[in-house]
Amino acid sequence: MQTENNIKALFQSKFDKEVEVLAKAPGRINVIGEHTDYNLGYVLPAAIDYHMYFGLSKNDKGVFNIYSHTFERLVSLTESDLEPAEDSWLNLVKGIIYQLKDKIGGFDMVIFGDIPVGAGLSSSAALCCGTATALNALFNLDLKKWDIARIAQKSEHDFVHVKCGIMDQFACLFGRTNHVLLLDCETLEFEESETDISGYQFFLINSNVQHELNESEYNARRIESTEALSILKGHNSAINTFKDVSLELIRSLESNEVWWKRAFHIVSENLRVQAVNRALKEKNMLEVGQLISQGHKSQKEYYEITCPETDFLAENLQEEQIVLGARQVGGGFGGCILGIAEDAGVEGMLDRINQKYNQAFNKQITKIPIRISRGYHIIHN
Ligand code: GLA
Repeated sequence: MQTENNIKALFQSKFDKEVEVLAKAPGRINVIGEHTDYNLGYVLPAAIDYHMYFGLSKNDKGVFNIYSHTFERLVSLTESDLEPAEDSWLNLVKGIIYQLKDKIGGFDMVIFGDIPVGAGLSSSAALCCGTATALNALFNLDLKKWDIARIAQKSEHDFVHVKCGIMDQFACLFGRTNHVLLLDCETLEFEESETDISGYQFFLINSNVQHELNESEYNARRIESTEALSILKGHNSAINTFKDVSLELIRSLESNEVWWKRAFHIVSENLRVQAVNRALKEKNMLEVGQLISQGHKSQKEYYEITCPETDFLAENLQEEQIVLGARQVGGGFGGCILGIAEDAGVEGMLDRINQKYNQAFNKQITKIPIRISRGYHIIHN
């Protein structure tokens, strides 16, 4: 409520009028299923209680005025300015306006966010989904959630050149309080399950490492996995996606080659996603934890998207008595670690981990308390 009032006041102070649409879009965690989305596999994300907030009104000048509170920048754009330039946050917004430009008029918008940036919690999907849904409401465009997810994804592809999958946009738009969402990224069918994990908690810490190669490495993995799939199709023409590849088949082809390692991660990760979803429903937290830790190992050894800091944190957490499992979350090469632990003693345990981390890398973790929250919504229009 406080933030909502702040957005109204901010809008008033910047544009000297009242907001017509006020909306918020959450970040996400992913319980398991990394780099499986663009490989048409399974993911298990949930929206979290950190948001991008949007306040908007129409203007009759045909201009797009955007104020970012985070960057303290007011930008005025016309249709001829809708090309990628230096600021990636602005490029993402431009990418949305570009796709909707024939259906909308001028507008004024303020954006404010409390999702940690560069932590693998999808602040960029929240920015894109939030902007698109707010414009949908302001101009009555009648876009459905999946239309918005595709528009948001295309903005990342074309305006910041990250060839992301659909998981982040999906979690941001479809998230539900206290539920994880099992999505089949091929059929786009999904199942919601309540996360009743009383006695245990998910915890999240930021390694505070942002890897510079993130974007190019991310796109490289996409190319490598496409190559891996075509090799597998050569072995069996009935294979369409990695979901059609059994663990037996992939094991029988074991090698040290890049294609095999990438394929092994995706095939085993798809199975882990389904297993975690089942174990969560059965409240078998030991199994959930084991699978989460196996997920980290697979990201490290086979998909090769971890870094020394996140390996150190995940592996040291896994040795703690109250921790059932821990792994790096998101696109990779840094960002956050998600773990599951017994409720009692988490704070002290994380302080111990922080001390070790500080000794080893001269860096600090940031604790990020999380609650599984609701997806994008209009607060008022
Ligand atoms: C990023 C991308 C997602 C997904 C994850 C890895 O968050 O935006 O589409 O590929 O990385 O699972």
